[in-house]
Amino acid sequence: MAVTSILVLVSLGVLLWQLLKKSRSDIFLQRFSGPRKLPFLGNAWFIARPTERLKNLQILQQEYGNRVGMTLGSQKMLTVFHPDDVAKMLTVFHPDDVAKVLASKEMNRSWFLELLFTDWLGSTCLLTAKGKEYLRMRKMYLPMFSYIHSENLELNFNTHSKTLLSVLKKEAGKGAAVEVRWLLTLCTLDNISQYFLGKSMGCLTKFDNEYPAAVHNETKLINQRIYLPWLWPKVCWNISSIGKKEKVIREYLQDFMDKVVQERKSEIFTNTPDISVEQMKDKFQKTGLDYSLSEQLGGNTEFTDRYIRDLMNSCILAGHDTVAAGLTFALYLLAANPKEQAKLHAELDEVFGNDRDRNVESSDLTKLKFLECCIKETERLYPPIPIMPRTSENDFELDKNCVVPKGVDIVVSPWVTHRLPEFFPEPEEFRPSRFFPENCTGRHPYAYFAFSAGVRICMGIKIAIVLEKIILADIFRNFTVELEDPTLKVVPVGDIVVFPRDGLKVKLNPR
Ligand code: HEM
Repeated sequence: MAVTSILVLVSLGVLLWQLLKKSRSDIFLQRFSGPRKLPFLGNAWFIARPTERLKNLQILQQEYGNRVGMTLGSQKMLTVFHPDDVAKMLTVFHPDDVAKVLASKEMNRSWFLELLFTDWLGSTCLLTAKGKEYLRMRKMYLPMFSYIHSENLELNFNTHSKTLLSVLKKEAGKGAAVEVRWLLTLCTLDNISQYFLGKSMGCLTKFDNEYPAAVHNETKLINQRIYLPWLWPKVCWNISSIGKKEKVIREYLQDFMDKVVQERKSEIFTNTPDISVEQMKDKFQKTGLDYSLSEQLGGNTEFTDRYIRDLMNSCILAGHDTVAAGLTFALYLLAANPKEQAKLHAELDEVFGNDRDRNVESSDLTKLKFLECCIKETERLYPPIPIMPRTSENDFELDKNCVVPKGVDIVVSPWVTHRLPEFFPEPEEFRPSRFFPENCTGRHPYAYFAFSAGVRICMGIKIAIVLEKIILADIFRNFTVELEDPTLKVVPVGDIVVFPRDGLKVKLNPR
C-alpha cells in the first residue's frame, strides 16, 4: 500500500514537473507577442473556427507584426498525443522571412501533413516525404508534370471545358442563378484525372458518380482531424465515429484507383504482352499512369502497384481542388468587378472574334495576357492553399538574432503576405493590372507565392494556368457573369484548400 502511494506521488510529481518546466521552444516563443493564451487551449481558440481563421491570421499580423509566436493548445497536453514537440509555431509574414523558409532544403512540410495524409496516400507520398528522400522523389516524378509530356493536354482540357459549358448553358437556360462551385470541382476532377490517368472520371456527365463525392468527403473528414487533437493518435482516430467513416471512404477511393491501375495494365499487356520499356515509352507515356507503369516495367522496384495507386491519388488530390478554388474565386471576383470583366471580354473578343465555340489553342493561350493577370490576382486575394506550415530538421536561422529552435513549426501564409500594403497597395481591391509586367518590376520575389516557391514549389503550375485559362476563356466568351446577390461578400473557409462557405451562385447571361 505504502509502495503504491509513493509510486502514485512520484508519478504525479513527474507529471507536474513536465507540465511546469519550460522547454527551449517555450523560452524562444516568449520573445514574441501574440494573442492571449488560454489554459489548455493556448492560442488554438484564435484560429479554431474555419470561417474566422484567415481573418484572424491577418489580425495577428496587423496587431503583433511580422513574426508572431503561437501555441496550439497546451503543448504539454498535446505531446501526450504526439511524441514530437508539436503545436508550437512561429508565423512569419514578411517576404524576407518567407524566402528563407521556402528556399531552405532543411524545411520539411509539417508533421501535420503526415498525420492527415499517410493513411490515404501512403507513407512515401510526395506531400509528406522529408529531406533528401523528398528531393529524390520530386526529381523522379518531374517527367509526369512536364507540359510537353501530354500531347493531348489542350485537346482534352477543351473537351471537358465544353462539357462544363453545355451544363452551364442548360442550367442558365432555366432562368435562375447557377451554383457553380461544385460544377467547377467536377470539371477539374475530370480534367486532372484525364491528365494523369488518360481517362476522365465522367464526373460532369454521370451525376450518380460516387467518386467526386467520395474525394470531397474524404478531404472534408481529414480536415476536421486537424482541430480535434484527441483524435491525432491513430488508435483514437480508428475507434472514433468520424475515423470509421473516413476509413470506409478511404478504402473506396483506394479500391477505385487500384481498379484503374489494373485496367490500364491489362489494356497494355493484353494487347502487347511482350512490349519492351522502349516501345512503351514511345507508344504510351502520355500520362503519369503510363509513365509509372513504364518505370515498373523497366525494373524500378519502387513503383509497385500500390505505390502507383497512391501516387495517382496524390496527384489528383493536389491538382483538382486547388484549380477548382482558383476558378470559383475568379468567377466571384470578375462578377463583383464588372469593369475588369469588360476588359476580359474585350481581350477574348480580340482573340476569338465572335467565335464562341472553337477550342482554345496553344497560340491563343499566349495571347490571353489579361486573363492570366486575372488568374494571378485572384490567387493573390484567394490563394487556394492559404497556409503552409513547415518543420525544420535543425535549429533554423531566420536572422542572427532569431534562431528558431528545432521543434517550433514555422508557418507562412500567402493569405496574409499577399495583403501586405507595402507590396500590394489597397490590398483588398481586385486589380489584375498589378500583374502587368511593368507593375511587377521591383516587387519582392516572395511577396506573391500562391503556388509556393523555392524547393517545394507546386509541380503543376503550368498545367493549372493552362486549365484555368481554357475554362475561363470558354465561360467568359459565352457569358457575362453577375453575382446573384450584388452585395455578396463570400465567407472564405480556411481549410487546407480555401473555398467559399456557401458555395457561389452566379447569373450567367448569354453574350
Ligand atoms: C490554382 C492551382 C494550384 C495552386 C494554387 C497550387 C498550389 C500549390 C502549393 C502552394 C503547393 C505547395 C504546398 C506546400 O508547400 O505546402 C503545391 C504543391 C503541389 N502541387 Fe499545386 N497548385 C495548383 C495546381 C496544381 C495542379 C493542377 C497540379 C497537378 C497537375 C498540382 C500539383 C502539385 C503537386 C504534385 C505538389 C507537391 C509538390 C511537392 O511536394 O514537391 N498543383 N501546389
